[in-house]
Amino acid sequence: MGLFKRKNKKYSTDTMDNGAMLITVADPKNPVAEQFRTIRTNIHFMSVDKPLRRVAFTSSNVSEGKSTVTANVAITWAQEGKRVLLIDADLRRSTLNTTFGVPNHHGLTTVLTSAVSEIDLSQVIIDSGVENLDVLPAGPVPPNPSELLNSQRMTAFLDAVEPIYDIIVLDVPPLLEVTDTQALSGKLDGVILVVRAGVTQKAAVSRAVEMLKISKARLLGYVMNDVDGEDAAYGYGYGYGYGEEEK
Ligand SMILES: Nc1ncnc2c1ncn2[C@@H]1O[C@H](COP(=O)(O)OP(=O)(O)OP(=O)(O)O)[C@@H](O)[C@H]1O
Ligand SMILES: [Mg+2]
Repeated sequence: MGLFKRKNKKYSTDTMDNGAMLITVADPKNPVAEQFRTIRTNIHFMSVDKPLRRVAFTSSNVSEGKSTVTANVAITWAQEGKRVLLIDADLRRSTLNTTFGVPNHHGLTTVLTSAVSEIDLSQVIIDSGVENLDVLPAGPVPPNPSELLNSQRMTAFLDAVEPIYDIIVLDVPPLLEVTDTQALSGKLDGVILVVRAGVTQKAAVSRAVEMLKISKARLLGYVMNDVDGEDAAYGYGYGYGYGEEEK
């Protein structure tokens, strides 16, 4: 049984239109919410000595569950008392505004297209309504997302917000679709690859891993989304694997 009906698994605009399902808020005792907490813990174990401050979730292709996983894992960090900034860096297929019911007139694109002195971060970063969690929506769709994400301004922005938060979590575009994530990953402490069970092809995962290596990103692990089987709660299962020594 699914938590909600799956429409077109391959290319879905569901979360863009209606927001991602926040099971970690709606039903924190649900086994699926517990799985998100396990993912959080395993990511933490990947870097015990040096806490991760900037992490992104990506995938090979579209609609593999990045936005759903990113928002829920970010919430589990907030729920354990960390100050979290969740950034919608998927400038082409943004979801944070619908997920948290916040406006999208201003957002990351506004930050990246304004002079640093002109930006009042308190105007663009929004309280999500979930304790400890602030969100920065994507903002209007720009003509040049890769360029913006790879800009000096993006680096300066991340440097500016890092002291304010314990962890910055980014929802970023799929690796094989656009170059945005490759451009951005060098500015981050690590990247987690979301793989959709039964949908993502092995070759696509290998290619995505290769691209992360080329961009010198640190692959922290995999989230296996939508796993069926006995361990999968309501057909909405998540698993976590380690990535660095993968082929
Ligand atoms: N485990 C799951 N079980 C059922 N439906 C799921 C699961 N994970 C994601 N979905 C659904 O699949 C669709 C795509 O999910 P989501 O938007 O989170 O993926 P995405 O990778 O961010 O997509 P995009 O590439 O468009 O940004 C949505 O309709 C979402 O509700
Ligand atoms: Mg998405």
